[in-house]
Amino acid sequence: MKKGKKPWGGRFSEPTDREVEAFTSSIHYDRRLYRYDIEGSVAHARMLAKQGIITKGEAKAIRTGLRGILADIEAGTFAFHSDDEDIHMAVEKALTARIGETGGKLHAARSRNDQIALDIRLYLRAEIGRVVELTDALKTGFLELAKKEMGVILPGYTHMQKAQPVLLSHYLLAFREMFDRDEARLRECLKRVNVMPLGAAALAGTGIPIDRHYVARLLKFPEVTANSIDTVSDRDFVAEFIFVASLIMMHLSRFCEDLVLWSSDEFGYVQIADAFTTGSSIMPQKKNPDVAELIRGKTGRVYGNLIALLTILKGLPMTYNRDLQEDKEPLFDTVDTVEACLGILTAMIGRLTYNRERMEVGAAGGFATATDVAEYLVMKGVPFREAHGIVGRIVSFCIQNGKELTGLTLREFRRFYKGFEKDVFRCLTVRQSVNARKATGGTAEETVRRRIAEIEEC
Ligand code: ARG
Repeated sequence: MKKGKKPWGGRFSEPTDREVEAFTSSIHYDRRLYRYDIEGSVAHARMLAKQGIITKGEAKAIRTGLRGILADIEAGTFAFHSDDEDIHMAVEKALTARIGETGGKLHAARSRNDQIALDIRLYLRAEIGRVVELTDALKTGFLELAKKEMGVILPGYTHMQKAQPVLLSHYLLAFREMFDRDEARLRECLKRVNVMPLGAAALAGTGIPIDRHYVARLLKFPEVTANSIDTVSDRDFVAEFIFVASLIMMHLSRFCEDLVLWSSDEFGYVQIADAFTTGSSIMPQKKNPDVAELIRGKTGRVYGNLIALLTILKGLPMTYNRDLQEDKEPLFDTVDTVEACLGILTAMIGRLTYNRERMEVGAAGGFATATDVAEYLVMKGVPFREAHGIVGRIVSFCIQNGKELTGLTLREFRRFYKGFEKDVFRCLTVRQSVNARKATGGTAEETVRRRIAEIEEC
């Protein structure tokens, strides 16, 4: 092929405008799909030979050529050109340059429309594997931390107001649960990614007698897509992955928000290791939780990627349209961002020091066991609404007289309800409060330990 001439240039009477070439080109980012593009082409060539569409010798030449290209790209000696348009063109052009006209036989029964669908699916399949591994490592990190901090009490908040004491381990395991669901969602998404699209060709399938199932076997896909029109149009699986990544980022971000708040002087519940913080260029005393802040901030970019893709897809006429080329940057950015955030948070949570005393003191304040007193009355037969009112009046009395619930005498309790007995003092401390919550899913130490055992069993 003449230099500058496009593989599709037959019906064109003038070369592509330079600006148009630069504008339509995706090679500067889709080159990262090279391995999958080549892997797909190797499988396609083998299938063409098996079906007698090309000879075994031609297939071998194609495979050797492709492997040479792969080696050069990996060695960094392959020259990508901006006029290559995309990774498919770059590889095909290089192949023809290496092995001559036989290179031109590779594209039989194939279009870039199904080829790009294959490349993204192969890429995403591999990356989902990595994201699952990273999520798994983070889950282990939370579990280990929960075991290490067992017994430590934390003030639990609702509406950002002190609510009830909980175990720090229970709080940490809450995140483990979230990432467990995220992992399940990743595996679910993988099922829809892991379907072989090649053979859909441009949109209608091909008249050449191909064997799609053979290609699927070579590339380890459990199934092939069922409809060629859907195959070249579908990016649901990309949107689904970015949505799952958005949920992961949201979970990371919520933990990071607590870290930022709790590492402040005002809270002082946790210290982040120096290696995971940064300083201020003007205020010498500052130690900033930038990693946590950046994870929180990067959540916005992943959400942006999701909205970008959904907007690209909305209103696209069937079937393939070049708009779909815009799917890759949001996808790549999402993969890079979520992998980086998962990795760094896993490292960082191993370097957190929780301030046990400070949290316990914090947990004791704010009448955090008032609900326990109401529950005590319920167990004495008082209707909950009435118990709520009684304890509300007790709290108000305490506030007026500068007392804590633990500082009240039995006589004082009885001024509000005659049925109070000595055993009320058994539900006033934060530890008693925590350990009373034994039902499945509650924060009692024995319940949390049971949950840890369950997790470790499976
Ligand atoms: N670079 C294109 C993409 O990412 C590949 C498919 C192009 N197909 C075409 N007929 N122009 O979607």
